[in-house]
Amino acid sequence: MQIWKSLWESYDLNNPADTPWETHTRDQKLFDIVSNHNFNTAIDVGCAVGTNADWLQQNGIKTVGIDISEKAISEAKKLNSKVEWICDDFVYDHVLFDRQFDLIFDRGCFHGYQYPESHFFAHKVSKLLSSNGYWISIIGAEKGDVIKFGPPRKTATEIVSVVEEHLEIVELSECHISLFNGNVAPAWCLISKKKS
Ligand SMILES: C[S@@+](CC[C@H](N)C(=O)[O-])C[C@H]1O[C@@H](n2cnc3c(N)ncnc32)[C@H](O)[C@@H]1O
Repeated sequence: MQIWKSLWESYDLNNPADTPWETHTRDQKLFDIVSNHNFNTAIDVGCAVGTNADWLQQNGIKTVGIDISEKAISEAKKLNSKVEWICDDFVYDHVLFDRQFDLIFDRGCFHGYQYPESHFFAHKVSKLLSSNGYWISIIGAEKGDVIKFGPPRKTATEIVSVVEEHLEIVELSECHISLFNGNVAPAWCLISKKKS
């Protein structure tokens, strides 16, 4: 999604309203799930300035953070030198093609995609997941009040109709996305795995 490159160039990183999803705290659902599983490798897709990738790496998981924006990745590099930071388009990149990850995490990345790119995204995830791996995706939910600075919103039906073509859905549950101003946006937590 090339638009993200120019969006990032226009962001003032000292103005939290420009990147409202950035709380500089790891995602709560990610924490809950990682606490109950043994993941050796992870990739944070659309990692932005690297908050969640940094947390994963600090918790002993060999982590890749990928974002399409050079500006975001250069900020992320300041946070953790052990994470493998990649500046590329996750959907179309050619760097990751032969790699496998136990955990593919994205918060607020997949939800920006519509047909047909949403399918390309889910297909790419299915190729990169290890046989026992999980994709955890935090997706803005089409419910509750529309809030200023809120994320894109998808219905459960929209999510399932795309993802089930490529992966086996393990769980679709309610959660929220915390925002910089203390608001929370309604969200879905999608957990899926490779088709058996
Ligand atoms: C709404 S932000 C969420 C950032 C971060 N995941 C978080 O929750 O704090 C979406 C991020 O995804 C990145 N992005 C969107 N499409 C991408 C793609 N195809 N490949 C890599 N990064 C992408 C954007 O540059 C942006 O940093």
